This record gives sequence, C-alpha cells and structure tokens, in this order.
Amino acid sequence: MSDDSRPSPSAGPSAARTAAVIPAAGRGVRLGPGAPKALRALSGTPMLIHAVRAMAASRAVSLVVVVAPPDGAAEVKTLLDAHALPERTDFLVVPGGRSRQESVKLGLDALPAGHDIVLVHDAARPLVPVDTVDAVIEAVRDGAPAVVPALPLADTVKQVEPAGTPGEPEPVVATPERALLRAVQTPQGFDRATLVRAHETVTGEVTDDAGMVEQLGLTVVAVPGHEEAFKVTRPLDLVLAEAVLARRRLNDGF
Ligand code: CTP
Ligand code: MG
Repeated sequence: MSDDSRPSPSAGPSAARTAAVIPAAGRGVRLGPGAPKALRALSGTPMLIHAVRAMAASRAVSLVVVVAPPDGAAEVKTLLDAHALPERTDFLVVPGGRSRQESVKLGLDALPAGHDIVLVHDAARPLVPVDTVDAVIEAVRDGAPAVVPALPLADTVKQVEPAGTPGEPEPVVATPERALLRAVQTPQGFDRATLVRAHETVTGEVTDDAGMVEQLGLTVVAVPGHEEAFKVTRPLDLVLAEAVLARRRLNDGF
C-alpha cells in the first residue's frame, strides 16, 4: 500500500489548511542545568527539530510557527534553515514570552490568514507519531472546536491538601475514579477562530489550551493519544526518548 492511499488528512485545495504552533520558549528547569530544553540534542538532533518534523510529517500541515526562547529566535531560525523540511511545509520563528500561555498567544498572533485549523504542540513532545497528529486534525475537520489526544492513567490519582513545606506528609482528601480520568498530550487541535477567541477572553492560569476552550463553555473532545507522545520533563525522560529513537532506527533497518 502506498503512503498516499492511507486515509490521512490530505492537503487538497478543498481541505482546511492546518498550521502548527510549537511553544519552545521554556527553559526546562526540571531537566537540570544546560541549554534551553527545546535546543537539547536527542540522538544528535535538537529536540525542537524532532518536534517540527513530527508536525511537518502530516500532509495536512502547511505551516509551522516556532515560538523560540526570547533571546534565541535567530539561533532557532538558523537551526531550521539547516534541517530540511518537506517542501510543502513553511515555517516562521517568533520570540516567546514568560509563560507557555503567553508564548502560544505570540505564536497565534503571527499566524497569517488562510489556516483554519491550528495545532498547538509542545516542543517537549518530540516523538509524537504522525498518526496521532492526523487523528487530531481529522476530529477538528469532523466539527469539534477543540481536540486533545489523551491516554488512560497507569497510576491511581489522589487529591491532597498540599503541605506548606515540601516533603511534609499531606492529607489525602479524595480518590477520583481512575477510569474517568485521562492524561492529555499534544498536539491539541482547534478551530482557529475558537482558539483565538479563547486566548483573547480567558484570563488566569491554565495548563493547556483546550482548558481555555472549556472555559468558553464549548465541548472539547479526546481522541486516543500515544505513549510516544510523552513530554520530556525530567532527566529520565531523555533516557526514554533515546531508547524510543534507537528502537525506531532498529525497526527502520528491517
Ligand atoms: N514553553 C514556552 N514558553 C514558556 C514556557 C514553556 O513556549 N515561557 C513551552 C516549553 O518550551 C515546552 C512547552 O511549553 O515546549 C511545555 O512546557 P514544559 O514542559 O513545562 O517546558 P519548560 O517550561 O521549558 O520546562 P520547566 O517547566 O521544567 O522549566
Ligand atoms: Mg514549564
């Protein structure tokens, strides 16, 4: 079966065009000292380049907007120039802000007209498979204003009364039913006008973009996520990412 016969979102003239905004402006404090997280290498290639390629791998994505560390936009532009993307994919680089939310907003502000679907994807999730990206786009095309890839939880989750001092015992106040919970990933997909409205009207801290759309009173839907879409957050996650890349190289060899 050729790659073109697979039921993935096409980039045909009648299809809504999709842009991906990649917030990559964080420092990566939890990863420990070093370069900004998005610029750290995985298997010799900066994490951000893996993330950009993961978005560009979808035939539907025609533009990638990278939100760079505030003082690193020129360096990021040079990096992207040096790593070839598919011919159908354009890119833009803008400097980011102090919070993820601010960085995403700056990326949205830079979006040219003509892209009706927007993905927001963490640079810190460099290994998301293209099938997950396409599934998110497909659900937006099917009419959902906001879509999140999500996985069931492996761990039971407890709600606690947070201790004032780190390391102190914390009283458990509730155990939410695990079967009803999902861990959400990126790319999250949106009808562009809805996401822009959410970023213009919702104030206060939110940890994901879909959460802002929920605050508008709209329905967000979850589609199956993927274990390889995990976020590189702590040093152990780098070990896992390298192992995933090694496994891919091995499988490609057959
Ligand atoms: N991000 C961003 N601008 C910020 C903060 C975060 O664009 N001011 C981006 C990060 O670059 C990352 C994504 O948001 O791709 C998810 O954030 P997270 O994993 O928390 O990354 P960091 O904030 O860099 O890590 P840490 O919280 O450990 O410092
Ligand atoms: Mg952070």
